[in-house]
Amino acid sequence: MANSKLDELRDLKKKIALGGGQGKIDAQHKSGKLTARERMNILFDEGTFVELDVFVSHRSHNFDMAEKKAPGDGVVTGYGTVNGRLVYAYAQDFTVLGGSLGEYHAEKIVKAQKMALEVGAPIVGLNDSGGARIQEGVNALSGFGKIFYNNTISSGVIPQISVIMGPCAGGAVYSPAITDYIFMVEGTSQMFITGPEVIKAVTGEEVTSEALGGAMTHNAVSGVAHFACKNDEEALAQVKELLSYLPQNNLEIAPPVASMDDPNRIIPEFDDIIPAEANKAFDVYEIIKGIADDGKFFDVAPHYAKNIVTCYIRLGGNTVGIIANQPKVAAGCLDINASDKAARFVRRCDAFNIPLLTIEDVPGFLPGVGQETGGIIRHGAKLLYAYCEATVPKVTLILRKAYGGAYIAMCNKELGADIVLAWPTAEIAVMGADGAANIVFRKDIKEADDPIAKRQEKIAEYEELFNNPYRAAEMGYVEDIIEPSESRQRLISAFDMLESKRQSLPAKKHGNIPL
Ligand code: HXC
Repeated sequence: MANSKLDELRDLKKKIALGGGQGKIDAQHKSGKLTARERMNILFDEGTFVELDVFVSHRSHNFDMAEKKAPGDGVVTGYGTVNGRLVYAYAQDFTVLGGSLGEYHAEKIVKAQKMALEVGAPIVGLNDSGGARIQEGVNALSGFGKIFYNNTISSGVIPQISVIMGPCAGGAVYSPAITDYIFMVEGTSQMFITGPEVIKAVTGEEVTSEALGGAMTHNAVSGVAHFACKNDEEALAQVKELLSYLPQNNLEIAPPVASMDDPNRIIPEFDDIIPAEANKAFDVYEIIKGIADDGKFFDVAPHYAKNIVTCYIRLGGNTVGIIANQPKVAAGCLDINASDKAARFVRRCDAFNIPLLTIEDVPGFLPGVGQETGGIIRHGAKLLYAYCEATVPKVTLILRKAYGGAYIAMCNKELGADIVLAWPTAEIAVMGADGAANIVFRKDIKEADDPIAKRQEKIAEYEELFNNPYRAAEMGYVEDIIEPSESRQRLISAFDMLESKRQSLPAKKHGNIPL
């Protein structure tokens, strides 16, 4: 081949790789952001990223678009390996027309989505865009519609991960919202349907874009995002780590990761971890770390509804999803936000064949007018529904309180737990002994010569009868009451035994989860 042809190709590719040019790249760096290609190079194993549709550009003639160059039409798409496994990705290039989404920009993303779905590999979207390209009008909106459609069709088939690394405005936020996980970068990323200026014009409210749609707003308050990261590098490292816990698609299981951690390891400190006083808290993260291989866990949505912890661990090398009440926050009760967080996590795990471990110390659903009028019935129902529907192996470990409806909602036997284990400190009852005495024995106590003594007597009677795991074990609601120190060993054994579990549900178009 004549060298001039090769030179021409190399020159062209070099030019395209510069996106909007050095000035725009410098501006991107100055604002604390990496460029689309720099991000791709960090995400993928070195030298494995293969770009698709490098030469695609826009075909718009509106306004002065005919004269405007848009290398790659403002988005880099392609595939490569992450920790040796195939992954597709797209990265919007803010240096080109602000990463705005035009017709061919969208077509590139849709092509990558369709390939990822057909091949059965995860797709990661790195979002950094001014939204619909204003000059392309309805064609840009149509592009978004196609992306939402493919997000939805792919849901539950391949893992979809969104990383917000710049502005994400208008309807553009809905593609990430349909995906399984949203990462945000603190200080440089925002998500909102309508920005501060529109809000001021319509409602008169004044708000900064960070307070309205920044990383912590969506991680701690709205629950839209699940991870807040300090910078682009940390976000991409976290994405890689998350991918290591997930299978490639719904027909596979997550790859096992060998560990030197002994599956039979005894955890002596567990024997005294539950405080003697019923209303004293302990940190459920200590239990999770104790049980997990090498004490390692990957927390999902750690800033939201902290009264429930949802995380991935490996047990005997295999990924397990944990849903655990956190007694340190609001006594570990179930409220609207905790129910939503846990239900979504259960469905993510079930969709991708990840077994579920529920760790329980729950005093009940949170009482309150706000909770009732806010729809705790509907939100709590999501958790019941998600557990019932999940066909993956389900193991429940009851540490202490397992009261009332919340006992059921935290995957009791009837919701389909394959194995329920309880510590001797477990209290499986309709409610705590104090509350029960006030209701059931109110008359006896009132009429007694010594009401205080009578009350204590009735509390003791109730505790004897219900506030322990033995009645539930006698009925077969609990398979075994175990020594806390042997928890890791017993859980690994239970999940090993359940590995080949196959359960099918009646054929239907789809269920009707109470959204
Ligand atoms: C075309 C756009 C654009 C857009 C930005 N640019 N957004 N071009 N369409 N939507 C261009 C700018 O003209 C500029 O071009 C370059 O990108 C960088 O933008 P700046 O404004 O200079 O950058 P910055 O100050 O960092 O501000 C970024 C921004 C702001 C916050 C994103 O540009 C902005 O508010 N853009 C509009 C956001 C928006 O309202 N989008 C539509 C949302 S509605 P030059 O040539 O000057 O460098 C929507 C509907 C989706 O998306 C519906 C789906 C159902």
